[in-house]
Amino acid sequence: MKKVKKAVIPAAGLGTRLLPATKAMAKEMLPIVDKPTIQYIVEEALASGIEEILIVTGKSKRPIEDHFDSNIELESNLESKGKKELLELVQETTGIKLYFVRQSYPKGLGDAVLQAKAFVGGEPFVVMLGDDIVKAKVPLTRQLIEGYEKTHASNIAVMEIPMEDTNKYGIIEPESKVADDLYNVRHFVEKPKPENAPSNLAIIGRYLLTPEIFDILENQKPGAGGEIQLTDAIDTLNQTQRVFAKKFEGTRYDVGNKLGYMTTSIEFGLEHPEIKDELKDYIIDLAHQLEGKTSSKKVVESKEK
Ligand code: UTP
Repeated sequence: MKKVKKAVIPAAGLGTRLLPATKAMAKEMLPIVDKPTIQYIVEEALASGIEEILIVTGKSKRPIEDHFDSNIELESNLESKGKKELLELVQETTGIKLYFVRQSYPKGLGDAVLQAKAFVGGEPFVVMLGDDIVKAKVPLTRQLIEGYEKTHASNIAVMEIPMEDTNKYGIIEPESKVADDLYNVRHFVEKPKPENAPSNLAIIGRYLLTPEIFDILENQKPGAGGEIQLTDAIDTLNQTQRVFAKKFEGTRYDVGNKLGYMTTSIEFGLEHPEIKDELKDYIIDLAHQLEGKTSSKKVVESKEK
């Protein structure tokens, strides 16, 4: 069995739900507290044992490349001022085996993944969506790799969602349970209306795929929304080899829409050692104020700034 060493991070979408912030910048570069979203994803890959990462970029490629490269000017400035901790923070992202490829036009997630064909070669690999952060005791990518090691087949992460949201996700039609958290799948369906959805188990942004997916993607016709859908290709793959759905353990944060972006920022801020206490006080004060109680001085002061 081949070891899973490679990950692909598609980051070439238009990010229209976050416009105008994403007009000139990839949404994957928007920060959650003090780190770009994509850095959380790269960290998950490394914590899962991934050795090489390919980022699929669109027209706003430069800031992503620069972020993971060294910045000599900044580093020598921090060094000369004795700012050791900050220096360590900016150096955290260098030295990773990162590669870039460009998707010439955002034709859909399936097309973005197809750009990774030469990089992946004949090995199993992981797709990690650049706008989904997952917090879990065992990193989700590691959970999928372990699933692959047990099943020798593709493993896709799924989670339960409210039935009314099925038209925002790829949804599975489970066939049978292999284990408590693992399903055989009859069909993978992209964005079905709630009345047609075969379940409320939604595909989220982590996929462990076998390389046969590329032959299918090469001939994949546009599907929902006129885009080349990875879900449609996975459904075809599942007809010739098993593709399992893994109900994962952990919390998923969708930072690709305004509300998800804001709530993720707040939750991560509440865990950040530098700001967590003050942010918590601020939120408690704000909640009291919203409930119509007397606001504390702190909230009033910060609003006046
Ligand atoms: P999304 O559908 O969430 O991204 O794709 P989007 O199209 O950028 O967002 P909206 O709907 O316009 O707001 C999931 C992931 O796949 C990437 C995106 O960058 C995101 O990380 N993607 C999507 C591509 O790389 N290429 C594409 O053609 C489409």
